[in-house]
Amino acid sequence: MHMHKYEKIWLVFGGITLIVFLSVIGVSAFAMGHHPPSDMTTIDPEKVKETAPFDDPGLKKIGDNEYEAVMVAQAFMFGEPLEVPKGATVHFKVTSADVVHGFSIPGTNVNMMITPGHINTITHKFDEAGEFLIICNEYCGVGHQAMSGKIEVN
Ligand code: CUA
Repeated sequence: MHMHKYEKIWLVFGGITLIVFLSVIGVSAFAMGHHPPSDMTTIDPEKVKETAPFDDPGLKKIGDNEYEAVMVAQAFMFGEPLEVPKGATVHFKVTSADVVHGFSIPGTNVNMMITPGHINTITHKFDEAGEFLIICNEYCGVGHQAMSGKIEVN
Protein backbone atom coordinates (compact mmCIF):
# COMPACT_ATOMS: atom_id res chain seq x y z
CA MET A 1 0.00 0.00 0.00
CA HIS A 2 1.31 3.38 -0.94
CA MET A 3 1.36 5.94 1.84
CA HIS A 4 1.53 9.60 1.18
CA LYS A 5 4.61 11.32 2.56
CA TYR A 6 2.57 13.73 4.71
CA GLU A 7 0.51 10.92 6.17
CA LYS A 8 3.73 9.32 7.38
CA ILE A 9 4.89 12.55 8.96
CA TRP A 10 1.59 12.95 10.80
CA LEU A 11 1.68 9.33 11.95
CA VAL A 12 5.15 9.81 13.45
CA PHE A 13 4.13 13.13 14.96
CA GLY A 14 1.04 11.52 16.52
CA GLY A 15 3.14 8.72 17.92
CA ILE A 16 5.62 11.13 19.51
CA THR A 17 2.78 13.19 20.99
CA LEU A 18 1.29 10.07 22.52
CA ILE A 19 4.61 9.04 24.07
CA VAL A 20 5.17 12.53 25.52
CA PHE A 21 1.61 12.58 26.86
CA LEU A 22 1.93 9.18 28.54
CA SER A 23 5.31 10.10 30.06
CA VAL A 24 3.86 13.27 31.54
CA ILE A 25 0.98 11.31 33.08
CA GLY A 26 3.35 8.63 34.35
CA VAL A 27 5.74 11.16 35.87
CA SER A 28 3.02 13.15 37.60
CA ALA A 29 1.32 10.03 39.01
CA PHE A 30 4.72 8.93 40.30
CA ALA A 31 5.41 12.32 41.86
CA MET A 32 1.96 12.75 43.33
CA GLY A 33 1.38 9.75 45.46
CA HIS A 34 3.15 6.54 44.70
CA HIS A 35 6.32 7.59 46.45
CA PRO A 36 5.72 10.04 49.26
CA PRO A 37 8.98 11.23 50.84
CA SER A 38 8.44 9.32 54.08
CA ASP A 39 8.71 5.86 52.54
CA MET A 40 12.27 5.45 51.38
CA THR A 41 12.61 1.88 52.66
CA THR A 42 10.84 -0.97 50.93
CA ILE A 43 9.55 -4.27 52.26
CA ASP A 44 7.86 -7.27 50.66
CA PRO A 45 4.15 -6.57 51.34
CA GLU A 46 3.39 -10.31 51.22
CA LYS A 47 5.81 -11.05 54.05
CA VAL A 48 5.15 -8.21 56.50
CA LYS A 49 4.72 -10.52 59.50
CA GLU A 50 7.99 -12.33 58.82
CA THR A 51 10.01 -9.19 58.16
CA ALA A 52 11.81 -7.30 60.95
CA PRO A 53 10.83 -5.09 62.64
CA PHE A 54 7.21 -5.95 61.79
CA ASP A 55 7.58 -9.54 63.00
CA ASP A 56 7.52 -8.03 66.50
CA PRO A 57 5.35 -4.90 66.43
CA GLY A 58 4.82 -2.65 69.41
CA LEU A 59 6.64 -0.10 71.50
CA LYS A 60 10.36 -0.30 72.26
CA LYS A 61 12.34 2.03 74.48
CA ILE A 62 15.41 3.13 72.55
CA GLY A 63 16.67 6.00 74.68
CA ASP A 64 15.93 8.49 77.41
CA ASN A 65 12.16 8.91 77.04
CA GLU A 66 12.58 7.95 73.39
CA TYR A 67 10.63 5.14 71.79
CA GLU A 68 10.22 3.30 68.55
CA ALA A 69 6.64 2.36 67.71
CA VAL A 70 6.46 -0.40 65.11
CA MET A 71 2.97 -0.73 63.69
CA VAL A 72 1.24 -2.69 60.97
CA ALA A 73 -1.83 -1.01 59.51
CA GLN A 74 -4.36 -3.42 58.08
CA ALA A 75 -8.09 -3.55 57.49
CA PHE A 76 -9.21 -2.16 59.88
CA MET A 77 -6.77 -1.61 62.73
CA PHE A 78 -3.40 -0.26 63.77
CA GLY A 79 -2.58 -2.81 66.46
CA GLU A 80 -2.38 -2.62 70.23
CA PRO A 81 -2.86 0.74 72.02
CA LEU A 82 0.43 2.41 72.98
CA GLU A 83 1.29 3.97 76.31
CA VAL A 84 4.14 6.46 76.71
CA PRO A 85 5.21 8.95 79.38
CA LYS A 86 4.66 12.67 78.92
CA GLY A 87 7.48 14.24 76.92
CA ALA A 88 8.22 11.03 75.05
CA THR A 89 9.68 11.21 71.58
CA VAL A 90 8.14 8.47 69.47
CA HIS A 91 9.59 7.32 66.18
CA PHE A 92 6.77 5.64 64.28
CA LYS A 93 7.63 2.93 61.77
CA VAL A 94 4.53 1.90 59.93
CA THR A 95 3.72 -0.36 57.02
CA SER A 96 0.54 -1.82 55.60
CA ALA A 97 -0.29 -5.50 55.35
CA ASP A 98 -2.93 -4.94 52.68
CA VAL A 99 -4.06 -1.69 51.06
CA VAL A 100 -3.22 2.00 51.35
CA HIS A 101 -4.18 3.44 54.74
CA GLY A 102 -3.83 6.82 56.37
CA PHE A 103 -2.01 7.48 59.63
CA SER A 104 -3.03 10.71 61.26
CA ILE A 105 -2.95 11.84 64.88
CA PRO A 106 -5.35 14.79 65.27
CA GLY A 107 -3.87 17.65 67.30
CA THR A 108 -0.35 16.86 66.07
CA ASN A 109 1.42 17.22 62.74
CA VAL A 110 1.54 13.44 62.33
CA ASN A 111 -0.14 12.68 59.04
CA MET A 112 1.14 10.21 56.49
CA MET A 113 0.02 7.76 53.88
CA ILE A 114 0.77 4.11 54.61
CA THR A 115 1.51 2.26 51.41
CA PRO A 116 2.01 -1.51 51.21
CA GLY A 117 5.63 -2.34 50.45
CA HIS A 118 7.06 0.69 52.19
CA ILE A 119 8.24 1.53 55.69
CA ASN A 120 6.75 4.90 56.50
CA THR A 121 8.43 6.81 59.31
CA ILE A 122 7.55 9.92 61.26
CA THR A 123 8.66 11.25 64.63
CA HIS A 124 6.58 13.09 67.19
CA LYS A 125 7.29 14.38 70.71
CA PHE A 126 4.24 14.11 72.98
CA ASP A 127 4.63 17.15 75.24
CA GLU A 128 1.16 16.97 76.71
CA ALA A 129 -0.56 14.20 78.60
CA GLY A 130 -3.79 12.85 77.23
CA GLU A 131 -5.33 10.31 74.97
CA PHE A 132 -4.46 10.55 71.31
CA LEU A 133 -6.25 8.82 68.49
CA ILE A 134 -4.64 7.46 65.39
CA ILE A 135 -7.09 7.69 62.55
CA CYS A 136 -7.07 6.36 59.03
CA ASN A 137 -7.72 9.16 56.57
CA GLU A 138 -7.44 7.17 53.35
CA TYR A 139 -10.53 5.28 52.26
CA CYS A 140 -9.62 1.60 52.64
CA GLY A 141 -12.87 -0.34 52.62
CA VAL A 142 -16.07 -0.98 54.58
CA GLY A 143 -14.41 -0.64 57.98
CA HIS A 144 -12.56 2.57 57.13
CA GLN A 145 -14.69 4.80 59.40
CA ALA A 146 -13.99 2.55 62.39
CA MET A 147 -10.26 2.19 61.78
CA SER A 148 -8.42 3.82 64.65
CA GLY A 149 -5.70 3.29 67.21
CA LYS A 150 -4.89 4.82 70.56
CA ILE A 151 -1.90 6.40 72.28
CA GLU A 152 -2.03 7.14 76.01
CA VAL A 153 0.36 9.81 77.20
CA ASN A 154 0.72 9.88 80.98
CU1 CUA B 1 -7.59 2.22 56.76
CU2 CUA B 1 -9.14 3.81 55.94
